Amino acid sequence: MAATGSEQQGGKAYYVSTPIYYVNDAPHLGHAYTTVAGDVLTRWHRQRGEKVWFLTGSDEHGQKVMRTAESKGLSPQEWCDKLVEEAWKPLWEHLDIANDDFIRTTEKRHTVRVQEFVQDLYDKGEIYKGGYEGPYCVGCEEYKLSGELLDGEGEYAGEKLCPIHKRPVEILKEENYFFRLSEYGPRLLELYESRPDFVQPESARNEVVSFVRQGLQDLSISRSTFAWGVKVPWDDKHVIYVWIDALLNYATAVGYGADQERFDATFPADVHLVGKDILRFHAIIWPAMLMAQVLPVPGRVFANGWLMVGGEKMSKSNLTGIKPQDLTSHFGVDAYRWYFLRAIAYGQDGSFSWEDFSARYTSELANDFGNLASRVTAMVGKYFGGVLPEATADGPAETAVHEGLTKAVAEADRRIGEELDFSGGIAAIFDFIRQVNGYLTEQEPWKVAKDKSDAGQARLATILYTAAESLRAVAVLLNPVMPASSQKLWDSLGAEASLGALADQPVAGAAEWGRLPAGATVTKGAALFPRLEEQPAQ
Ligand code: ME8
Ligand code: MG
Repeated sequence: MAATGSEQQGGKAYYVSTPIYYVNDAPHLGHAYTTVAGDVLTRWHRQRGEKVWFLTGSDEHGQKVMRTAESKGLSPQEWCDKLVEEAWKPLWEHLDIANDDFIRTTEKRHTVRVQEFVQDLYDKGEIYKGGYEGPYCVGCEEYKLSGELLDGEGEYAGEKLCPIHKRPVEILKEENYFFRLSEYGPRLLELYESRPDFVQPESARNEVVSFVRQGLQDLSISRSTFAWGVKVPWDDKHVIYVWIDALLNYATAVGYGADQERFDATFPADVHLVGKDILRFHAIIWPAMLMAQVLPVPGRVFANGWLMVGGEKMSKSNLTGIKPQDLTSHFGVDAYRWYFLRAIAYGQDGSFSWEDFSARYTSELANDFGNLASRVTAMVGKYFGGVLPEATADGPAETAVHEGLTKAVAEADRRIGEELDFSGGIAAIFDFIRQVNGYLTEQEPWKVAKDKSDAGQARLATILYTAAESLRAVAVLLNPVMPASSQKLWDSLGAEASLGALADQPVAGAAEWGRLPAGATVTKGAALFPRLEEQPAQ
């Protein structure tokens, strides 16, 4: 269980990061997937009363971004400024992402510290000059091992392809600076051994462990064939390798080398959320860089699987990229945030389809959840003039609801807050919603309402109080996932007047029965999840 708010306030923040995305193109569903997961995780921890820090940002250096800018006839900086301001930041705002900071790797607060970090490693003898020749994938910004390349077919016949981007690699030969990564194998293996949840899920951990067991090569950390990057401080013919630059964002953004107090109160990250394409950078290179500087390594690196469309990994380079706005304009932002985390087990690959989204929207959001909210608020209006009555006749059916809630809260808290099993946690909350629906179906308040005796009216009051109080708890639990709809529900229950702001409601308090006071002003608002329009022609 989480420490209490007061214990946490003075201590270290619960620090969660997303990857900093390349701004070579506009964001698609895949980027939004990882970022929404981070937002849900951090909102959950905020509602545990913890101090939280949620970081995202943009990765702006390197050949990939440089080449895109060139093709658009802009300088790399102009291109990055434009894309960050016009595409990336607006999307995070649109999706209700509550990041505490947005770091750009071209900012001075970052570049200066990156130079200091690398200079320090150089002074310690962790970096040396050497030569390297090998296949390089610009998509990955990474040297590849010959063994992992694919044979090209069709237009790429006779060429070797990157296994991730399915595009030809380039042979790069450079005199570079190298980081002694090869020396860190044993310490990394010890880390994975002593902290089995350092890399998650299990499949990701296995991949990392077997890769490191094969033996690590030293890592080329500079480039001299192009200039779009942070200059190597002792040799300005070189720029720092974009991945060394990028990984350091997790330190520079929280005060590394600039504000020791803030750094100590935030670093290292408790969770680095990444896709499995960039797992090795985060689970191998990043901790080795930290070990070299005697800095603490992160709590864990959690790799999400691929979002697939039509059997292909969705990506900027293979034209399967779908804009999140294409979906939010139809389903709404909250349903969007909910759908991907609900439908795909976090850590596994999963396919997106319009049909599946529509079906789940209708059955779970509109029917199970939305209808419950509108039925209950409408009945409080109809039978009690919109004033929440008191429960005075609790029996076994009510006890079962109370117990169902206690179980749902504990399970959701463990799954979402600890295990990053968003799908399982959301399912636990929706199981409870279905239980309350079943409770109403069995209790038939519309029939009880016809019994005008005192006992009949007491029973009716108890049923409607039980249902409304259940909805109060559901609003608290779903707020991290669907903040706008949860707020609407909170408003229609009249909860704010007595309980305060929704975002301040503690997760644990969701299970405390009886928090919504009798007398609350209940109003039936607009449908939380309106019926979907017909799918637009494609
Ligand atoms: O790699 N399914 O940036 P990037 C799921 N700048 N997640 C996906 C996805 C998909 N189809 N496509 C992308 C970089 N992602 C570096 C990171 S961090 C110090 C530097 C998500 O723009 C997933 O999180 O290529 C993946 O790791 C990330 O976007 C890659 O974003
Ligand atoms: Mg990529």
